[in-house]
Amino acid sequence: MPNFSLPDAVFEKAAENFPTPFHLYDEKGIRTRARLLNQAFSWCDDYQEYFAVKALPNPTILRILKEEGCGVDCSSSTELMLAEALGFSGRDIMFSANAMPNEEFTYARRLGAFVNLDDISHIDILRDNGGIPETICCRYNPGGDFRIGTFVMGNPGEAKYGFTPEQLAEGLVRLKELGAKRFGVHAFLSSNTLDNDYYPILAGILMRTAKELSEKTGLEVAFINLSGGVGIPYRPEDEAPDILKIGEEVHKVYASIFGSHGPAIKTELGRWMTGPEGWLVTHATHHKDTYRHYIGLDACAANLMRPAMYGAYHHITIVGKEDLPHDHIYDVTGSLCENNDKFAIERPLPEIKEGDLVLIHDSGAHGHAMGYNYNGRLRSAEVLYTQDGSFRLIRRAETPQDYFATLDLDPVAGALGLK
Ligand SMILES: Cc1ncc(COP(=O)(O)O)c(C=O)c1O
Repeated sequence: MPNFSLPDAVFEKAAENFPTPFHLYDEKGIRTRARLLNQAFSWCDDYQEYFAVKALPNPTILRILKEEGCGVDCSSSTELMLAEALGFSGRDIMFSANAMPNEEFTYARRLGAFVNLDDISHIDILRDNGGIPETICCRYNPGGDFRIGTFVMGNPGEAKYGFTPEQLAEGLVRLKELGAKRFGVHAFLSSNTLDNDYYPILAGILMRTAKELSEKTGLEVAFINLSGGVGIPYRPEDEAPDILKIGEEVHKVYASIFGSHGPAIKTELGRWMTGPEGWLVTHATHHKDTYRHYIGLDACAANLMRPAMYGAYHHITIVGKEDLPHDHIYDVTGSLCENNDKFAIERPLPEIKEGDLVLIHDSGAHGHAMGYNYNGRLRSAEVLYTQDGSFRLIRRAETPQDYFATLDLDPVAGALGLK
């Protein structure tokens, strides 16, 4: 079921306090999930979740997760700046490198973060930009299809990430020559996976690969990084993954490969951690009847891009109307001059009137963070529903001044008062 963990009254109250649209996040829900995840992997002495900052890069949320014992997975220098400002220690930061500027490697090394190299060519880049640490992580890409049973769950062979098996073997030898003593392996082979078998199967691949490479190279296996990818039930008919069962199954695989003592386990969940604990709160502002029936909202894809970008499903409910018959078929749209700007297409919903409060569920990960400014649309505020039942603005909405702020080199913009 989609997340109905908060009653409509909470959203009504929030909308009395803050102009829509805004993303509302439930602090209690986020803490509960972090605790459940830690419980799922409590069998591992040295387990840590590195929350994928890209999913919800808000300092208040990151502080909450820090209090729950999480580290952070960063993918850019600005995300590293956030981690540094919030006082995450080096070993609580994972830096997943991709085709990024060399200075970012230097920055990650200065913070003492774990560096997760994406490619064999990055070894020399890291050597020259911060140096090779004693513990290094490499991202693995086994190629081909990734299947669970007969289902193709992902296509690593088409993904831009990671070392091939041959490159990983060669790269670790090179890293050892350059001073590495221990290594971690990381892979992300399938996104938003609801199948409880994803992590255990991935764990088996990574653990066997790491053990074999350790025996070949003499490097110690420091950790297995299962990355993100555990999904959430966006659709009412989806079944939520059972994180306790997932932890238990990963444990069985671990025990069969390493026995009772072995490397640390790390995860980098984003979506599973915060996705269901966020809602984009909007008002219906327009309706239009042509070849279809349209409801226009005061939010648009600039506030939540996933439906427009991936055709992703986000559940929608209308405050106070959930028990009414869903006998109207609507396209629910934003205001962008872009036909993809639809939060729902031909969705059965109760009759919607202008002024209704419309909730778009599961916006807590890869939601606000993916926002953009097309059509001069501004990104919305973020509000925290705190554990004590109050509301706190944790990011204000953008203003036109924010939109124009980068025009500071243009003398005309200054004269027009645009900055
Ligand atoms: C390196 C890395 N780790 C973790 C994540 C988080 O993935 P998810 O939010 O699907 O759990 C991502 C997402 O893109 C990623 O690129």
